[in-house]
Amino acid sequence: MFLKNAWYVAAWDHEITRDLQQIMVLGEKICVFRSEVGALVALEDACPHRKLPLSKGRIKGDTVECGYHGLTFNCVGQCVWAPGSGGIPSNAKVHAYPLHEKYGLVWIWMGNPALADPADIFEIENYDNPAWGINRGAAMELDCNYLLMCDNLLDPTHVAWVHQSSFAADATKDTPLRITKTENGVIVHRWMMDHEPAPFYRKVVEFEGNCDRLQHYEVRHPSHALIKAVFTPAGTGGPDGSLHENTFIMDSYNFMTPTDEGRTRYYWFQLRNIRPDDDELSRMMSEDVQHAFEEDRDVLNEVQKGMSNKTSPHIDLPIDGGQLRFRRQLQAMINEERQVDRQMAE
Ligand SMILES: [Fe+2]
Repeated sequence: MFLKNAWYVAAWDHEITRDLQQIMVLGEKICVFRSEVGALVALEDACPHRKLPLSKGRIKGDTVECGYHGLTFNCVGQCVWAPGSGGIPSNAKVHAYPLHEKYGLVWIWMGNPALADPADIFEIENYDNPAWGINRGAAMELDCNYLLMCDNLLDPTHVAWVHQSSFAADATKDTPLRITKTENGVIVHRWMMDHEPAPFYRKVVEFEGNCDRLQHYEVRHPSHALIKAVFTPAGTGGPDGSLHENTFIMDSYNFMTPTDEGRTRYYWFQLRNIRPDDDELSRMMSEDVQHAFEEDRDVLNEVQKGMSNKTSPHIDLPIDGGQLRFRRQLQAMINEERQVDRQMAE
């Protein structure tokens, strides 16, 4: 089950071109392309006649011609030519999805188009800040439900077990978590004081000696995460810390798009407050982060299989508190959306 009145990432902006392509989001097949002036178009990928995917047809200017009998649709999904029909049947149309380009990503609105407001797209602080650097990599395909990745991104403890060569430190094993409910999701966070930086961060922080470290794991509805890492010299961190001029901050953005109930497309990039133009640093960070995310993928793909085929009950632990709260909130929003849909249909 998915929240439909929400923006999801459909693609990187360079992935949508003048070639017709099929993508799948929330189990819906969608034909995407760009118009002659480069505007984004997303149409239900099924001709209303015999349901051949429009992506199997031809692009003709700013229209798509079905590859079976030539029914032709414009960028808003209206049939503009129906050869041999003596006119255009009034029910010859396909759904057109609102799209919006932001942060190098293409966002798609899966619900009622009248409610689509680009101002509701996840806000990214410092995206255009020239003092911050960025690194990114290709989207990853996960063979698991998107909520398992949301769980993972509300779980600062897993780094101790899953990411031992990169993000783990002794303190990540059992420092207590704090859970904060926000207007649009949940934050699980903790400060770990006076310890050696974990291997990945040792390579990038610009100070010597021990650190105070914040893990801020935040997921917002429907399935978008900000993982903020703060490393500051020991003695300058903590909830009331003054921080230090050499404090290192990495904001990791994670956007999970459900392909369907069992598969997820995972888009990510990181922003950092140091050496914005250092391409070698960006490359190294992308490589290390991708390696870590592959560790997550391997675990979550197996967790999906384990949970789908379990032969005994699973248990929850106190460390799952943030995840369970996020799931409950999201489920309540989905239920409410369905109720409104039912009322409108009556
Ligand atoms: Fe992870």
